[in-house]
Amino acid sequence: MSERILPLPDVPDPRSGPSLRWAILGTGWIAARFVEALQTSTNQRIVAVGSRTRARAEAFAAEHGIESAHGSYEELVAADADVVYVATGHLDHFGHARLALEAGRPVLIEKPLTPTVAEARELVELARAKGLFAMEAVWSLALPRYSVVRQVLDSGMLGEVVEASANLGERLVDHHRAMDPAQGGGAMNDIGTYVMMFANEVLPGLRVTAAHGMRHAVPGIAGPGAIGQFHALLADERDRLATVSASMLADTPTAAYIAGTEATLELEAPFYQPGPVVVRFHDGEELRYDEPALAHTQLFWEALEVARCISEGLTESPLRPLAQTLATLSLMEQARELMGDPAA
Ligand SMILES: NC(=O)c1ccc[n+]([C@@H]2O[C@H](COP(=O)([O-])OP(=O)(O)OC[C@H]3O[C@@H](n4cnc5c(N)ncnc54)[C@H](OP(=O)(O)O)[C@@H]3O)[C@@H](O)[C@H]2O)c1
Repeated sequence: MSERILPLPDVPDPRSGPSLRWAILGTGWIAARFVEALQTSTNQRIVAVGSRTRARAEAFAAEHGIESAHGSYEELVAADADVVYVATGHLDHFGHARLALEAGRPVLIEKPLTPTVAEARELVELARAKGLFAMEAVWSLALPRYSVVRQVLDSGMLGEVVEASANLGERLVDHHRAMDPAQGGGAMNDIGTYVMMFANEVLPGLRVTAAHGMRHAVPGIAGPGAIGQFHALLADERDRLATVSASMLADTPTAAYIAGTEATLELEAPFYQPGPVVVRFHDGEELRYDEPALAHTQLFWEALEVARCISEGLTESPLRPLAQTLATLSLMEQARELMGDPAA
């Protein structure tokens, strides 16, 4: 038997390679983490930030040492920059990404690209018509650990992959944006996008065959609330299966695995963030790739991928092609339909 070894991550040096001038659209939680990660670990330059209000843009620019602050998103996309990072809420991604694309700017758009397939298709068509780069910011896929996962899958080390599973649960019921249906909140859009992405990456072509979820009312938000938690079963005609689940009600294990006939790969929790990869063979041998669990300080890897793609003239990233984004959004829609709540 040949020696079993795990591949090393195939990732760029964060401080070398092409450097883009970034414009940040929105000044919320993820915008700040993204800017800090790029400024701490890369040679990318944040040159502009835009907000609905000038005061917020100026405060964010002062806090992060950004040279230009813009009091509207229209003004921001007109600013001189190589790429716009759209960091507003789910329901705003469509309008804000369209604004940037129509101004001739390539875009990195926070996940989910949009909550609906129809809107996502419109953005994809616009980006393609304009010949501009567009990518959904699924940062997990640009992390070194996912480079290891891809290489393991490509190598056939696991044998025939028959099953995948991903769970993500974080108690976020008190987080207003995340649980407000009026802002597209809920376990499907906010974190379900990661588990559906995982199933689709590992076993592309699966369809959702069963899904159960329910809305969860939150004090202070009128109505039945957004989806609190859901479970879904995915399958294909070859009987390959995936189980995915997400919860905003509890801190669930948040681990994932890919099961093959020769070995099973485990992504230790949280599976969508930096961390170890373990491969356990049927005969008991175990291989391990260790990566520190540095969480959102590692958001910069996706920015390096954007810089590489744009500098090479690509309009999509092979790590997150737009077709894969559409496929993930389609799984989310299938699950909503089967839950009997297509508008959730
Ligand atoms: N990759 C990840 O790990 C990760 C983590 C968290 C969130 N996200 C994604 O990032 C996006 C933003 O999430 P977040 O947690 O950063 O949200 P947030 O803190 O609420 O920030 C959203 C920003 O959107 C802007 N905005 C525009 N119109 C708005 C409106 N009508 N109401 C409220 N804000 C509005 C605001 O910026 P201005 O006031 O400056 O205009 C606000 O600061 C979401 O789509 C989420 O899925 C990704």
